[in-house]
Amino acid sequence: MTGSPVDPSDLVVTRVVRPGHDLLVTLEEYDLEAFGPTGLRTYDLAVMARAGAVYLASVDEEIAGSCQILRTLDESEFFYIVGFYVRPQWQGRGIGRAFLMEVATKVKELGGQGLMLTVAPENAPAIRLYRSTGFVDEAFIPDFYGDGHDRHILRWRFDEGGLHGGV
Ligand SMILES: CC(C)(COP(=O)(O)OP(=O)(O)OC[C@H]1O[C@@H](n2cnc3c(N)ncnc32)[C@H](O)[C@@H]1OP(=O)(O)O)[C@@H](O)C(=O)NCCC(=O)NCCS
Repeated sequence: MTGSPVDPSDLVVTRVVRPGHDLLVTLEEYDLEAFGPTGLRTYDLAVMARAGAVYLASVDEEIAGSCQILRTLDESEFFYIVGFYVRPQWQGRGIGRAFLMEVATKVKELGGQGLMLTVAPENAPAIRLYRSTGFVDEAFIPDFYGDGHDRHILRWRFDEGGLHGGV
């Protein structure tokens, strides 16, 4: 069931700096819920929070989604979205789009020129969201994650995709 749209101004995006045990366990559960066994574990999330950034999107102090990003080593002006999800009960209410725009704004504030990510060819909702914000297809890599786990590589260059100086 889809709830009513969430006003983007009701979405609070925060960065998790030093997640404690309980939050790590909660985020592991949410990653499992979103991605199954390929979801990040507490150890991965702790590394992401320290070496990259882990953002939470909350509504009325409830975590509705999360996103982990890294600054890429070979192209330091681009940030790599390791994971991005909206929890099932919050999907289809505009949170994914508002959250992604907020992450893009934060990346721009960090000096980033754009975002990269991978997405499964069968993940139509995510592909539709990404293409509509400014991501374009860069490559298709068969077996990216091993046998049968193909991925599209998408890149959003902010100067070409509608995220100009005034965000
Ligand atoms: C992909 C995801 C983040 C979208 O979040 P959301 O909060 O549901 O998205 P929104 O409500 O903001 O919708 C934004 C756009 O996503 C697309 N979308 C969302 N749900 C969709 C669906 N069921 N079918 C097709 N497109 C859909 C649409 O383009 C939509 O824009 P529109 O409303 O203008 O048509 C969410 O479905 C999710 O977390 N999925 C599971 C985890 C995942 O696959 N993450 C991405 C990994 S790369």
